Amino acid sequence: MTTKLAIVTGASRGIGAAVARMLVDRSWTVVGIARSGAAFEHAGYHHITMDLALVATAPRSLHDALAPHIARATGRVGLVNNAALVGHLGPLVTADPTGVLELHAVNVVAPVWLMGEVVRSAPAPATVRIVNVSTGAAVGAYPGLGAYSMSKAALRMAGMSLASEWDDLATRKHKRSDAAILSYEPGLVDTDMQRESREQPTGEFPWDMFRGFARDKLLVPPERPAAEIVEFLESGKQKSFAERRLRD
Ligand SMILES: NC(=O)c1ccc[n+]([C@@H]2O[C@H](COP(=O)([O-])OP(=O)(O)OC[C@H]3O[C@@H](n4cnc5c(N)ncnc54)[C@H](OP(=O)(O)O)[C@@H]3O)[C@@H](O)[C@H]2O)c1
Repeated sequence: MTTKLAIVTGASRGIGAAVARMLVDRSWTVVGIARSGAAFEHAGYHHITMDLALVATAPRSLHDALAPHIARATGRVGLVNNAALVGHLGPLVTADPTGVLELHAVNVVAPVWLMGEVVRSAPAPATVRIVNVSTGAAVGAYPGLGAYSMSKAALRMAGMSLASEWDDLATRKHKRSDAAILSYEPGLVDTDMQRESREQPTGEFPWDMFRGFARDKLLVPPERPAAEIVEFLESGKQKSFAERRLRD
């Protein structure tokens, strides 16, 4: 019988792959989701290959794939909303609306739906821990990152809103007995996302900032934030909502 289940989006590489690997090593069952295949093989790891943008229009297939795993998780259900697109890099006024829609489908709509799915479907006694992977750009504006920033700001607010409903008498019936959400800023992490950002051509936007992160050796390996995400998934009683960034 599975007792600890974690759903990790964006598990094919970067921070998500590090979280998934760490969890299976700690005897969690993990369901990872990404457009490409699994980063590793393990008896406790199940991979769903899908584009999370599809959740916006057809959530049923992901529900059907997740339901049997969630139903068995009587001890603890973790959700790590980690997958994200950077999307349009450049002036917000030139952003293509279709691209902005896709960005929001992946960065906001799918994670919000997944939070609901976990809260609705987790077995009654299970502890629920949700980590929404955020960024400093969710709370501060950076030229050229507007589309990404606003999607991450929306995800941060979605977590705060869900937690506020848990803390309100009228809506608390939707809360599991022990549930908590962390909005987590992983810091500057050495992944494809950073590489793609620093490979942008020099122009009117501060891409040099990203080149500087690598040049000045400010990037940390994905295992650093992954360990803090796992720590929250395994934590005891928490406030309904908290936010944190990578510890120094
Ligand atoms: N790296 C940093 O410095 C940094 C800083 C602040 C915040 N973050 C946040 O940390 C999280 C992880 O980023 P990372 O740096 O590890 O990025 P990454 O290496 O680019 O990995 C992104 C992951 O998301 C998946 N993904 C992207 N679009 C998807 C889609 N449409 N459907 C399903 N999966 C999708 C990718 O898999 P596929 O391509 O296989 O689909 C991949 O596994 C993101 O939320 C990011 O915003 C990163």
